[in-house]
Amino acid sequence: MLYTLTSSSWADSFSPALQENAIVALENGKVIYFPRLSFQLTAAEKELLTPRVLGEGSKNISFNPKTHKVRGAYGDKTCLSTLMARFFENAQGLLAALIPHYEKFLITGRTSYRPIEIAGRKTSLLKDDTRLHVDAFPATPNYGKRILRVFTNINPSGEARVWHLGEPFEEVVKKFFPTLRKPWLGIRELLFLLKITKSYRSLYDHYMLMLHDKMKKSDSYQDKVNKTVVEFPAGSTWVVMTDAVSHAALSGQFLLEQTFYLPVMNMKNPEFSPLKILERVLNQKLLD
Ligand code: SIN
Ligand code: FE
Repeated sequence: MLYTLTSSSWADSFSPALQENAIVALENGKVIYFPRLSFQLTAAEKELLTPRVLGEGSKNISFNPKTHKVRGAYGDKTCLSTLMARFFENAQGLLAALIPHYEKFLITGRTSYRPIEIAGRKTSLLKDDTRLHVDAFPATPNYGKRILRVFTNINPSGEARVWHLGEPFEEVVKKFFPTLRKPWLGIRELLFLLKITKSYRSLYDHYMLMLHDKMKKSDSYQDKVNKTVVEFPAGSTWVVMTDAVSHAALSGQFLLEQTFYLPVMNMKNPEFSPLKILERVLNQKLLD
């Protein structure tokens, strides 16, 4: 479930054999885990370790590495922007060194800072990340691209980030297959027209979202499915493709996360993508 590496610097290099093992592990649904890779904050940045940095109604702060725009924050954003830009650069450098196969093809997504304690947080069922799920976006169709995320626990008082890891993607799909329904005729046009989705929702995005929702909504699935508790200690980093790895975050506070997207054809083995797995099980093409 975990592929553990001992790096303690974001600028480490990796041997070709290790790079090969890492890409295979990642594409097979493992979490690449760096127990000793921490992200250091300056004294000024440590002042940001409080939920008070959040703007009203936000549960995390998001940063666009291309424009340096910070969203969801209250007050001065300069320090946040410096911190998040540095985290983005570190995450990007780490992936370039570890998985050079992806380097030219990775698409930069948002950086996120999550300063709220997860345990006990009130949310709606579908937004409740303490329940096992695969990541899928209701508003932003992604047409099969892989979701690759780098997480670092920056908790200052030694609190771990505790996750559940569930069953392999193929098992999830097989379990929910009998309940997966085609989209209603015209619904995807309507969602786009009403600007509920930012672009036309592909069949791939439809089924991924359905899986996400059905997993989260099913009490019996959540109770019965095989899962493992994994604790990511303060000062550790992990890399995971969250569109295929069933996961839940049970507790923890103060996390940095960087999202990247990867076109399926740029994987080492595209057959392991959720797109190809869904297409095989549903026996149809999903990108129209
Ligand atoms: C998630 O991606 O579901 C939540 C991850 C986290 O906040 O630890
Ligand atoms: Fe998630």
